[in-house]
Amino acid sequence: TGEAIVPAASWWRSERRDELLAIAAKGTPRYVYNLPTVRQQARDLKTLGAVDRLHYAVKANTHPAILKALAEEGFGFECVSPGEMKAVMAAVPESCPLLFTPNFAPHEDYAWALTTRATVSLDSLYPLEHWGETFRGREIVLRLDLGRGLGHHEKVRTGGSGSKFGLPVELLDTFLRLADAHGVTVRGLHAHLGSGILDDSHWGEVYGQLASIAERIGSVEYLDIGGGLGVPSHPGEARLDIAALDRVLRGVKAAYPHYKLWMEPGRYLVADAGVLLTSVTQQKGKGSWRYLGVDTGMNSLIRPALYEAWHEIVNLTRLDEPADGLFQVVGPICESGDVLGSDRRLPEPLEGDVMLIAQAGAYGKVMSSPYNMRDDAEEIILG
Ligand code: LLP
Repeated sequence: TGEAIVPAASWWRSERRDELLAIAAKGTPRYVYNLPTVRQQARDLKTLGAVDRLHYAVKANTHPAILKALAEEGFGFECVSPGEMKAVMAAVPESCPLLFTPNFAPHEDYAWALTTRATVSLDSLYPLEHWGETFRGREIVLRLDLGRGLGHHEKVRTGGSGSKFGLPVELLDTFLRLADAHGVTVRGLHAHLGSGILDDSHWGEVYGQLASIAERIGSVEYLDIGGGLGVPSHPGEARLDIAALDRVLRGVKAAYPHYKLWMEPGRYLVADAGVLLTSVTQQKGKGSWRYLGVDTGMNSLIRPALYEAWHEIVNLTRLDEPADGLFQVVGPICESGDVLGSDRRLPEPLEGDVMLIAQAGAYGKVMSSPYNMRDDAEEIILG
């Protein structure tokens, strides 16, 4: 039971509001990231005394300044493609640990990753069945499917029979025989059940399950219990209680002290640190509906369209005015799904007002697209 909350963290509401308005005056759309928030979230997770290594799941936000800041905070990096690996290697010191955890990747991705310092994970039999020579003599991490998924939306749950991730536990013995035949050592076990989880008991369960499976294998030295740490987005949702999570993890560690514990959070570190600034373009009344148009939409932030994700939206120009109107906040993209927020209470806007879409630091810019050939949102860092 966490502290009751909250609309999204609000560094932008007070002290940095004028800076944001000045940035928007030079042009919108813009993504703006507040590095102190990233560092604060990182330090929060570093209080997890049971965790031996934190890898940042780079897919959430690949901005080099964020990668650098997290390297300074002592994080390693979890990457899912050679592109992500190269971005990380260009931004952080060589001493930072790298984890390569792709899914359905081609042979050449693994062959390349094995030439780097990265720890490589496998999550099916196929690579050892077909490319055994590539892995001969190597130590790898095995990603397991524990048979269930969790997360804020069906599309981001990564376990169970409806999901393409992980080796089903029933195939573990087959995998181990293949590994043995190719001189491959399973040094780590990994499970990631999904994204946007706000139940802090989940990671303790995964940890316990992986530990008991590791006992059967013998060669395992570390357990990676994934990422998925959520941040509340709706009023009334509770924050994850990091101290409670640590107590649970310490409990499991006391039973299995011989394994190192790894985690790989993405969203938790960057979601609240980022906002998307966009400008009001037009308004339209249609029956009882009022549409408020802004200069970017699902091309910059696809989460509302894809997952019905809720992002707080405010009129930054009129932050102190009463929110008397009820609006559908929409972008300029030629799809009816191009809605950034439905039924939002906002002040009466004027063309050119700056609208701020909160909690856009994770899975925002990285999932944007050139659809409709609208200008890409530039990214700006506040140090
Ligand atoms: N580890 C693995 C193996 C993953 O697949 C992911 C996320 C993470 C770690 C980091 O999860 P996080 O801590 O960020 O929840 N685009 C979706 C989220 C997809 C997450 C994909 N995998 C969204 O915008 O909600």
